[in-house]
Amino acid sequence: MWIEYKSVITIILCFTSLFLSAQTEKKYNALCSGIPWFDNNGNTVSAHGANIVKENRKYFLFGERHKDGTNAFAGFNCYSSKDLYNWKFENIALPVLLTGKLDSNSVGERPKVMKCPSTGEYIMYMHADTLGYTSQYVGFATAKKITGPYTFRGPLLFNGKPIRKWDMGTFQDKDGSGYVLLHGGDIYKLNADYKSISEQISMAFEKGFESPAIFKKDSLYYFLGSDLTGWERNDNYYFTATSLKGPWTKEDSLRRKALLTWNSQTTFVLPMEGIKETTYMFMGDRWSFPKQASAATYVWQPFTVMGYTISLPEFKEAWKIDQKTGVVSIATVKGKTIAAGDQQIIYAGSWKQDTLTVRSSDEKGASFSFTVKGKQIGIYGLARPDGGYAVITIRNSNGKAVLSSSIDLYSKYPVVLLKFLSPVLKKDTYTVTVTVLGERWWWKEKSGRLSGSKGNFVSVERVLVKN
Ligand code: GLA
Repeated sequence: MWIEYKSVITIILCFTSLFLSAQTEKKYNALCSGIPWFDNNGNTVSAHGANIVKENRKYFLFGERHKDGTNAFAGFNCYSSKDLYNWKFENIALPVLLTGKLDSNSVGERPKVMKCPSTGEYIMYMHADTLGYTSQYVGFATAKKITGPYTFRGPLLFNGKPIRKWDMGTFQDKDGSGYVLLHGGDIYKLNADYKSISEQISMAFEKGFESPAIFKKDSLYYFLGSDLTGWERNDNYYFTATSLKGPWTKEDSLRRKALLTWNSQTTFVLPMEGIKETTYMFMGDRWSFPKQASAATYVWQPFTVMGYTISLPEFKEAWKIDQKTGVVSIATVKGKTIAAGDQQIIYAGSWKQDTLTVRSSDEKGASFSFTVKGKQIGIYGLARPDGGYAVITIRNSNGKAVLSSSIDLYSKYPVVLLKFLSPVLKKDTYTVTVTVLGERWWWKEKSGRLSGSKGNFVSVERVLVKN
C-alpha cells in the first residue's frame, strides 16, 4: 500500500516538474499569503520552518526542503529575493547526508542561519532527529558563503553535552550576540564563534510553547511560540521581557487578534528597517502533510506593534513593503471576476451548490475548467474543516501545460480565501482545470492524536483573471 502510494506521489512530482520547466515568464508584485509560490525555475518554493538573513540589499531565505508523501529529511533550501515576492532558487544549502543524523532516514527541521560577527562565517542551526522524533538535538553547520554549501558539524554543545530538545529558533541581538531558543522558553547564549554555548540564560517556563521566535523593538523583547499540536493550527501566543533573561510575562493579544494565527505556526520574525519605519514581519507555516512540498504555504504578515501588544489584526491577502522606507501598503488582487455559477465555468463529475456562491465536490476526479484570455489567474476557494486537495493545471493556447500546482482547501474554520494565484504569464488564452484529488491533509500528533481535515472537499467561490 505504502509502495503504491509512494509511486503515485513520484508520478505526480515528475509530472509537475515536467510542466513547470515549460513555464516562461513569472512575476509577483505583492506578497500573498496562503498560496503556493513559484520560484524563478517555476518550482514551488519549499522553505518551511524558515528564517531570513538580509545581506547587501538581498533577502536570503533558508528553510526545510520537503518531498510530498514523506517526512524524511530532504535537505535545507536557500532562495534569494530583493523584494520578498519573487524568489530565486540558490542552492540546497545543506543536502541530505549519506549517514548519521540528517541522512535520508531522519528528520531535519527549522534551519536558522546567522552570520557570526567575530569570524564572518555563516552558521546554520537546526533540529536534527530520528524519523519518529525520539532522539533529537540542536545541530549546526558552517559555510564561508551565505548560500552554502554548509558543512554539518554535529551537535551544538553546552558543557560538553548536546541540547536534546526539538523545536528551536535563533535570535541575533543588536550587539552581535547570538542566541538559540528552544521550545518551552529556554534561551542559550552562543560563544563568540557561534559554535558552542556559553551559558543558559533562560530556563523553560511554559509547557509546550513550540516554534520559538524572538524579536526586539525598542527595549522590549517579544518571545513567540505555538501550542503543542504538531502541524495542526493553533492560536500562537507570546511573552514579553526587558531582558532575554526574563522574567517573561505572558501576553494575550496575538491569540485574540489573529484567529489561529491565520491558520499558521510561527517560525521567525523579520525586522525590516527603512528610512521611515521598521516593519516586523511575522513568518508562519501553513503545514500540509503529506503534501508539504506542493501544498504547504506561507503566512507572512506585517505585525502591528504597540507597546506590549502585538497583533495581526486582519488577514492581509496581499501587501507590499517599500524596501527604502520600510512602509507597508495593502495590495489588491485585481482582475475580471468569474463567479463559480457562471456559465463560463464547466463542471465535470458531481458538484453541489453549497451556499449561494460556492460549488463543492469531494468526488475523486471531479473537475471544473474555464478558458480565459489574460496573463494572471487567481482562484478563490472556501477553505473548510473538511477541505481536501485539488490539482490545478494551466494550459496555453497550444494546449501545452505551463503550470501545475496542488492546493489545500483545509481550514479549521470555514473561510473564503485566495487559494491560488499564478505568476504573471505571457498574455495568451489559457485553459485552467482544477481536479479534486480525493485526498486530504492529516497528521498524527506527538500525543498520538490524529489531526487534520475531516474530508476531501474542494470548493470554488470565484475566479479572477488579469489582463
Ligand atoms: C510541530 C513542530 C514542527 C514539527 C511538527 C511535527 O509542528 O513545530 O517543527 O516538528 O510538530 O509534528
